[in-house]
Amino acid sequence: MTAGMGAARQRTERLSPDAGGIVRAAEILRAGGLVAFPTETVYGLGADATDRAAVLRLYEAKGRPAFNPLIAHLPSTEAALAEGRFDDRAARLARAFWPGPLTLVVPAAPESPICDLARSGLDSVGLRVPAHAIARALLVALGRPVAAPSANRSGHVSPTTAEHVLADLAGRIDAVLDGGPTAVGLESTIVACLDGPVRVLRPGGLAIDGIGATIGAPGWHGDEGPESAPLSPGRLASHYAPRARVRLGANRIEPGEAALLFGSFRPAGLEDARAVLNLSEAADLWEAAANLFAHLRALDATGAALIAAVPVPEEGLGIAINDRLRRAATAR
Ligand code: TXA
Ligand code: MG
Repeated sequence: MTAGMGAARQRTERLSPDAGGIVRAAEILRAGGLVAFPTETVYGLGADATDRAAVLRLYEAKGRPAFNPLIAHLPSTEAALAEGRFDDRAARLARAFWPGPLTLVVPAAPESPICDLARSGLDSVGLRVPAHAIARALLVALGRPVAAPSANRSGHVSPTTAEHVLADLAGRIDAVLDGGPTAVGLESTIVACLDGPVRVLRPGGLAIDGIGATIGAPGWHGDEGPESAPLSPGRLASHYAPRARVRLGANRIEPGEAALLFGSFRPAGLEDARAVLNLSEAADLWEAAANLFAHLRALDATGAALIAAVPVPEEGLGIAINDRLRRAATAR
């Protein structure tokens, strides 16, 4: 635990996402405070990325090691392009997929005001232009880059509602803008455009199939699969862990286990499950992604010692879903 973890509890304002709420949220950020806000992927915990003290507070509130860099959020593609050095491949990806669930890791622009602490001292920077209207309104109102990791305590499941944020961070942050459940439900896909081939550092809410097509085959190594790529500093194996243990590819449910289903498959022993939730009855991977973290939290809350997840197809968004399930399953 860092020194700040024991800091006195504070009141966390719950802001509605109207004009007044946006103004208040921007005011808190400008004063160096911490505001959680919805993006189309998951809720982020925002701090002014140009304010070293605010970013330090953010690491402390999350209980996150400061060697794990933060994504800087910008209100427009033009604004984001000014924060990094975009080669041809990076520029094409930015124009094709921003605003949206894509984070690009590029060399930081020397003139960028994003502080070194937000980048964990790296020469590169993770940049994202979210599509969510509330996120964009907040970024426009502040007029500065916002550093925002997922708004959960470090190592917990990412939040897809304001309630999830408060369950982890109430009393540790200044406010949360409540925009209801997020649409995508998985964190952004992270793609590094540094020296050498373009690499997927984290599969996520942007299915990676379209990336190779956008930049052309040369210089694209995403088809080797995310496992072959160098990991983001923060891709610790046990990230996204619920309290319960998670068992993958379950074809039968043992008595007392919580069951996480997908589609119409019904594993043996289901009738003795402690609780059952289906990511998507219709076997729709988009719906499954949107439900994943909320269902993991809900099954965890039943007190079951083990969550048994049936197989999810390894295609499209299923690649990111399986990535998160695998990491939730990694024993701590
Ligand atoms: O959808 C998302 O990406 C959400 C929303 C709020 O934007 N944010 C999010 O942030 O998931 P976080 O901090 O939970 O995950 C960001 C990941 C971390 O694993 C971090 O190591 C990696 O991005 N990252 C950030 N900057 C990087 C850099 N310069 N090089 C490599 N990895 C980087
Ligand atoms: Mg996170």
